[in-house]
Amino acid sequence: MTAHMDRFAAAVEHHLGQKAVVTQPERLERLAVDESGEGPYPPLAAIYPTTPDQARACLALASEFRVPVTPRGAGTGKSGGALAVQGGVILGTERMARILDIDEADMVAVVEPGVITSVLQEEVESRGLFYPPDPSSLESCTIGGNLAENAGGPRAMKYGVTRRFILGAEVSLMDGTKMELGGRNLKDVSGYDLTSLMVGSEGTLALATRLQLRLLARPRTVGAVWASFPTFEAAGRAVSALLRSGLDLRCLELIDHASLTYGVLETSGLAAQGKAALLAEMDGWEEDMTPRLAEAGQVCEREGAVDVNLALDAASLRRLWSGRRHLSDALKKSHPHKLSEDVTVPVGRVGQMMSEAWAIGTRHDIEVAVYGHAGDGNLHVNFLPHSAGERQTVEQTAAAELIKTALDLGGTLSGEHGVGLTKRAWMVLRHGPEELSMMRRIKASWDPVGLLNPGKLLPSP
Ligand code: LAC
Ligand code: ZN
Repeated sequence: MTAHMDRFAAAVEHHLGQKAVVTQPERLERLAVDESGEGPYPPLAAIYPTTPDQARACLALASEFRVPVTPRGAGTGKSGGALAVQGGVILGTERMARILDIDEADMVAVVEPGVITSVLQEEVESRGLFYPPDPSSLESCTIGGNLAENAGGPRAMKYGVTRRFILGAEVSLMDGTKMELGGRNLKDVSGYDLTSLMVGSEGTLALATRLQLRLLARPRTVGAVWASFPTFEAAGRAVSALLRSGLDLRCLELIDHASLTYGVLETSGLAAQGKAALLAEMDGWEEDMTPRLAEAGQVCEREGAVDVNLALDAASLRRLWSGRRHLSDALKKSHPHKLSEDVTVPVGRVGQMMSEAWAIGTRHDIEVAVYGHAGDGNLHVNFLPHSAGERQTVEQTAAAELIKTALDLGGTLSGEHGVGLTKRAWMVLRHGPEELSMMRRIKASWDPVGLLNPGKLLPSP
């Protein structure tokens, strides 16, 4: 570290205590990467505040010393948002991980950013309440990271993404200024919606130090249908039939043959049949769960499903989902160089997007595994190269074609994983110069010096 950084670290230690600052290279190593496959980008140091006051003090000092700060939750992000690409320090939220309040009357939870998503979910569910957003990494990702990326998940189909559940946030600007955005009100049209602007801003505007989350009542019961299809087209038709069936699905997941083979079947104990499977889940009253599930099964059969399984009890549901939830990790294990795209298209075009993804794989002679949230048009198209070099080629050819195709279909770059580092270059094509210029002015008004998570989201001018 330079003498300047030494002085900065000493100043942080003076305010936050020695334990708050990590500088040993072996402890910083894991922070040089995340789940994006980018990097390594080792930070010069990591700082772990334990309170909002400490977090604000840390940011104020970094401003004073002109040190770039990259906020980081659990590092499960898939677009490189938590990587210190311009050096400087990581501000880790893992020691700010308390559930401060679960207000059953207001149906609001107040939490610190480092709380693990599933920990919060289990806690509220034990009180008959429900926090729906369910990114696949829910057992390791944090609520602060979910806010930063506006995380989604299978249930977003019915309940919406994280934004729908952030009622308020206490945030700190880069210079240490505290703002209390939003509150506990379900309706609030007073002024610009800065709370929403924070959601999905990928840690580039301010650091959330405390969050107020909307809770719902826990659904009484949950059931699911698993159906296998002989062709991709049949699976695509079933997606659209289920969407218009009025069965009020909460999830509609598609898993293609490659994804089944590499990740899902073993864990879920299902037979490899056909080219693709759909996993449809619903919640509601016990009384009508069985007929609704049966009807969903019939819809699938009408579109040609060859094998339909219903799951009603917690153990079968866990088994069905375990393979799906860990699919991304399983693919990474079998194909360490995989390139995972996260395009989203309007729901009416999801069948076409699926076919295009498989066709692009064939054209470029690269194996693809397509799965994801067919019910809201968000597909995880995984290209499976066998080396880093092949990955680079795929990035410039097949992946580029996929993104252009999604945009041509009226789609977008990312439905869940964010822009971060990996999608920056595509922002011009997605948004155009005026919108990008407005984004830059917003960034400059929150972080004029450009020290907070630099090198992310916005492309270089
Ligand atoms: C999933 C992650 C990759 O849906 O978004 O599994
Ligand atoms: Zn996903």
